[in-house]
Amino acid sequence: MEQFDFRRMSLYQIWIRSFADGNGDGIGDLYGVYDKLDYIKSLGVDGIWFSPIYPSPNADYGYDISDYRNIHPDYGTLDQFDRVLHRAHELGLKVILDLVINHTSDEHPWFLESKKGRDNPYSDYYIWRDPKPGKNSRRPPNNWFSQFEGLAWEYEPARDQYYLHVFAKKQPDLNMDNPAVREEVKGIMRFWLDRGVDGFREDVITFISKDKRLPDGLPFLPVINGMPFYKDGPNLMQYLREFRQVAKAYGAIQIGEAPMTPVKTALTYLSGEERVLDMMIQFDTMMADCFLTEFVHLPFRLRKLKRAFSRWQNALAGRGWNALYLENHDHPRIISRYGSEKLWRESGTMLAACYLFQQGTPFIYQGQEIGMTNIRLDTIDKYIDIASIRAYHAYFTHQSKEKRLRRVHQSSRDSARTPVQWTDGPNAGFTTGTPWFHVNPNYTAVNVAAEEKDPSSILNFYRRCLALRKSSETLLSGTYREYQAWRGKLYMYERCYEGERILVICSFSPLPQGYRLPKGYKKELAELLLCNYAETPSLGRLRPYEAQVYQWKA
Ligand code: GLC
Ligand code: CA
Repeated sequence: MEQFDFRRMSLYQIWIRSFADGNGDGIGDLYGVYDKLDYIKSLGVDGIWFSPIYPSPNADYGYDISDYRNIHPDYGTLDQFDRVLHRAHELGLKVILDLVINHTSDEHPWFLESKKGRDNPYSDYYIWRDPKPGKNSRRPPNNWFSQFEGLAWEYEPARDQYYLHVFAKKQPDLNMDNPAVREEVKGIMRFWLDRGVDGFREDVITFISKDKRLPDGLPFLPVINGMPFYKDGPNLMQYLREFRQVAKAYGAIQIGEAPMTPVKTALTYLSGEERVLDMMIQFDTMMADCFLTEFVHLPFRLRKLKRAFSRWQNALAGRGWNALYLENHDHPRIISRYGSEKLWRESGTMLAACYLFQQGTPFIYQGQEIGMTNIRLDTIDKYIDIASIRAYHAYFTHQSKEKRLRRVHQSSRDSARTPVQWTDGPNAGFTTGTPWFHVNPNYTAVNVAAEEKDPSSILNFYRRCLALRKSSETLLSGTYREYQAWRGKLYMYERCYEGERILVICSFSPLPQGYRLPKGYKKELAELLLCNYAETPSLGRLRPYEAQVYQWKA
């Protein structure tokens, strides 16, 4: 079946637990989503990506699935899902589900069987290895660290073997080399596609093929030392091709999440006749204020961000297609990182302009469109994200509690997981009950209701940006070119299509600054398309965090 044109679309991401509570138990759910579909549509997006909504013990909040063919009872039922899907389709919104098949929950029936012994139908569904003989005791099969907690191996007495978990202990990695496991994956895909789902965001999909020898990694590289042997592995292309056949039959799209995959490698999945993924969630643009992970914080460097933007724009031009994003459930809030909480409205709107007009399909994460910022909880016990808690207890332990907590404030995924702020009423209008997680106290100022009323709000600016993108062939399919890459506080890029040129000029500075137009651009012929200040902009000058978008007609 023919694919729909995801290149002209933009998508809204829902992390359901904190989106909207429809039945008053304090937990976001599909009833809440149903009620907000008109709001989502009003943003001007064309679809929704749902982070996992399946049954899960929530060791990693949905990314540890215990039943692939059902809905978590906290979130509703399959019937309610069908209602949401149907209504979304009526509104012209596509629905993309998260496909998490690198690992399951350790409470998934497959794993419960698998760990019982070596001779049942599920014995070979996971990656089991014998202990290495040690002097006095057994040792794990290799020295890989997990991403979330300690070593990547856990011992199971019933089998006298270890199982591999690249993430948490409660997330055993599936053995994708087993054809039966791949058939299960295809069955899961068909189950949701038959219901009418339009595609998948595929969780850490580049990790699913492991080097069978499972060799030791470098001992001094915590967290990622096994990565060379499980990322972009030997059979990955073959497996992706198999899954592609399933998606193709339905015209479904596939968005692959690919931590640390360089753009060159990305092209092997994203380009050519045999494209196995339509877009990729890369991590390069998340690294402008940190080293490898947000938990190792560095001052924000615009030049690093611009290099990442342009690297992907240039490499994929004419060959693949970009997924554009600044936020999702895995990263702290972007205003708190790359913008300014003090110049909140200015930087929040400028950040929208800096990425929404690049070539690619934009993703907007719940709450981003109203400029939600990082929460600062006063003790580590109030945090719930396994990665944040682990980072607090494992790294920089010689530092004071305050310093380590500040690091968590800057880095925690929990900042992106606080309830969406709908109103300035109790619990930010998220629930009539007791919210399952802390509401950011800034909800009295930062909320949907207030921003609906304010024409210059971040919310309304997102709407204007998305409408502008959609109305302009130049922004949809024009070429990309960056100018003045050397500048440390200014980001300027051009989109060009059949002689029409659009220039996006963004200030990342809290101070005013000037700029010159690139060669060949005539000031007199510039037509203003958009600016994030209400007062008329002046070409050549930028106010703090100002964004200007000009057009030069062909
Ligand atoms: C992906 C998800 C993240 C999860 C991890 C393990 O990176 O986006 O939330 O923790 O995979 O499933
Ligand atoms: Ca609920």
